Amino acid sequence: SAGEAASPSSLGFRGLPHGSGPDEAVAAGHEIQVVIRWGDPVLPGAPAFDPARLTAEGQAMQFGYNNDYLDFFPLPWGGGDEHGLLVVNHEYTNPELMFAGLGDARTARLRTSAEQVRIEMMAHGASVVEIRRERGRWMPVPESALNRRITAETPMRVSGPAAGHARLRTAADPSGTRVLGTLNNCAGGNTPWGTVLIAEENFNYYFGGPGVAVGEQAAAYRRYGLVRDAQFPWGRHEPRFDVASEPNEPNRFGWVVEFDPYDPASVPVKRTALGRFKHEGCTHAVAPDGRVVIYMGDDERFDYVYRFVTARAWNPAEPASNRDLLDEGTLSVARFHDDGTLLWLPLVQGEGPLTPANGFHSQADVVIEARRAADLLGATPMDRPEDVQANPRNGRVYVMLTNNASRTAARADAPNPRGANLHGHVIEIIPPAGRGGPPDHAAAVARWELFLMAGRPGTDAGASYHRAVGPEAGWLSCPDNCAFDSRGRIWIATDGAPAAAKIADGLYAADTEGEGRALTRRFYAAPQGAEVCGPLIGPGDRTVFLAIQHPGEEAGSHFEAPATRWPDFVDGMPPRPSVIAIVKADGGEIGG
Ligand code: FEO
Ligand code: CA
Ligand code: CA
Ligand code: CA
Repeated sequence: SAGEAASPSSLGFRGLPHGSGPDEAVAAGHEIQVVIRWGDPVLPGAPAFDPARLTAEGQAMQFGYNNDYLDFFPLPWGGGDEHGLLVVNHEYTNPELMFAGLGDARTARLRTSAEQVRIEMMAHGASVVEIRRERGRWMPVPESALNRRITAETPMRVSGPAAGHARLRTAADPSGTRVLGTLNNCAGGNTPWGTVLIAEENFNYYFGGPGVAVGEQAAAYRRYGLVRDAQFPWGRHEPRFDVASEPNEPNRFGWVVEFDPYDPASVPVKRTALGRFKHEGCTHAVAPDGRVVIYMGDDERFDYVYRFVTARAWNPAEPASNRDLLDEGTLSVARFHDDGTLLWLPLVQGEGPLTPANGFHSQADVVIEARRAADLLGATPMDRPEDVQANPRNGRVYVMLTNNASRTAARADAPNPRGANLHGHVIEIIPPAGRGGPPDHAAAVARWELFLMAGRPGTDAGASYHRAVGPEAGWLSCPDNCAFDSRGRIWIATDGAPAAAKIADGLYAADTEGEGRALTRRFYAAPQGAEVCGPLIGPGDRTVFLAIQHPGEEAGSHFEAPATRWPDFVDGMPPRPSVIAIVKADGGEIGG
């Protein structure tokens, strides 16, 4: 457009126009490749996808549902930029779109059979898939021995302050240290020592029954959103999800899970030192002294931004010494002051209000009830913190605040200035310079600024993208996940734009510095009903990988009448959450 030609943005592509169509779209000059779909074989010997013959056994070997976090690990023994391991989270399932004859979403969840619930359990978790780019096309390496499926039944170890605590013990695991599976893994992160972190988010959706309202843990269940009529009522078939029969099972979820993507036999570890809440993601930065800082959001209206700082520096020379680095350190929660300062408040048992008188007898109680501990410390309630991620180029930390319809003007403050906040916003945290200049992500105090207020400028109250330059056409709604390219530009994926905005979810890019700062431009628009997750800028900025989640998820949509049959568009074939790769037709750098 003429506006873009005169724009100060460094971006080289023309933005997609706004609006919502049934189909996906990408900026001109780019090509979309489907890399892997729900049901495609992952483990050697996996059956081909057949929606009429789904089995739990087959699903446990196939690509899972609702792909979310994406990461790419190069092969240490070579392979260059175009061959590596794709790590993918599988957040949740849509039984109404997976199985025939169950009706819409509400009825389907109550009608699933025991075998269907087992299929859903096997469709959760994560996948590791060896991928390679051949003749320009990204594709899985068939039958790779490096491939892995992690499910809602994969045995995991618990470590850190809550390991073995009475509140983590169950009939099936009297030790409180061995959990079966991981649930609702939304975004994630990685570590400098080459492991992946996957974040358990809305674990409350799986636990229910009359047990949630009784007993001494009832208030704790409530603070984490457990309700009698669970959204995914698996407890009808799997007793451990019925709180009355297993009151401690919910305490074993809501953690960050670490695993080694290079070793398919490694046992994933739930790192309880990082706290228990609805973890959106967990990305890292390194402080000047070598300690590792993990930034985390708790995706709930009026919940908090957290960080964890390891007690020791990581050691690149001795990989084994980093293995349990995430078990010792300090979990803190953010208090944003209206004057632009930010205090990191440590969640340490025995300090301040975190005493036995308030029910915190040990650090285990603090991490299990991290939300209540943060409440008592006076953390700042935010508008649903999703990804929190440091930009490696400018050292600033970007906080995606997706929306909060429940914030009223009376509850607005400087860091959450809009009520109701239907479109969300993005905050920058600016750590102080450490010794020698690099940002000190471990410092106790930082500054913060607003980066952008989402929505359509001129239409949606408070929408704002740059203090000096007028709005472009690329406004966005509901920022969720983000990534940075090697020039330090931000790429923002969106989830859940209000219907009235008439805009499909998508992927947007913007400069973070200079006159083009925060001038978002629309790069990709999702197919009907889908949100865009993952964004992963591949090696050399030559590929953008995206996880297209819940295509066809719309009111009334079901297996027989989905809102879309993306990406196969074959009659009788349901829509399939899939990972796509976007490359430039001329092979060049994405974003130009
Ligand atoms: Fe699973 Fe916060 O999105
Ligand atoms: Ca999601
Ligand atoms: Ca998300
Ligand atoms: Ca979201």
